[in-house]
Amino acid sequence: MESDKIFDKLWTDYTDQNPEAKHVYDSFTAEGEVVENDHIAFRTFNDPRINVDVLARPFLAAGYVQKGYYIFEDKHLTAKHFEHVTNKKAPRVFISQLMPEHFSSELQAVVKQMADRIPENLLFGDELIYSGNQWGTPSFKVYEALRKESEYAAWLHVYGFCANHFTVSINHLKKFKTIQQVNQFLKDKGFLLNDSGGEVKGTPAELLEQSSTRAGILSVKFEEGTYEIPSCYYEFALRWPDTNGELYSGFIAKSADKIFESTDFYKK
Ligand code: NI
Repeated sequence: MESDKIFDKLWTDYTDQNPEAKHVYDSFTAEGEVVENDHIAFRTFNDPRINVDVLARPFLAAGYVQKGYYIFEDKHLTAKHFEHVTNKKAPRVFISQLMPEHFSSELQAVVKQMADRIPENLLFGDELIYSGNQWGTPSFKVYEALRKESEYAAWLHVYGFCANHFTVSINHLKKFKTIQQVNQFLKDKGFLLNDSGGEVKGTPAELLEQSSTRAGILSVKFEEGTYEIPSCYYEFALRWPDTNGELYSGFIAKSADKIFESTDFYKK
């Protein structure tokens, strides 16, 4: 499948599930902006059936290649980013994975059970990245237990495979020149920003500045009833040129580490 078609489908699912994300997008288009994606991010577990390399397959088939590799020691995550070889307008793809082996036997058992329940046609096909939660209605008790060990694991247990966030490329905006202007615009519209480590992650000297909304709150059906929990978020990225005058294209692990917290549990 062409990458444009993959992203169209991911975007439809993302905005259907996350009305706030659509609202962010509409806020920029209402200002006359054409929103370009810097990157789109996915989450998974390091289980050989569903790891980063498995999720990357449809992108590799669509002309992407691996570029960066990142380690997030504190969160027990690793990640890879991918770029399209010829289409420079195609967004980067960022896929992270949690290392279940660094956690309790209870967490490992939940992850194994999740992967066990995914139908084989999804594991060996190209539809896994859109397939959401394939392991059934989650238990709120399990969600709470996972959260104590890893907010990332708890989020993934509920939502499964989907775009965790899209990212507005600030470099492609006309009216907004700084990330501070973007953040102020979002706050004026009533969006909450992830302020873990400050509203802006990274500096011009690091060649990448990032910010993100806090994930919107969704009513989700659990075995025990309906609970309000965070869903997906929107990110904003401003890239700076390196000494060769080329815009930096990678990611900064220290910044991404804080961006992951955009889906941490909170009450509105
Ligand atoms: Ni991101």
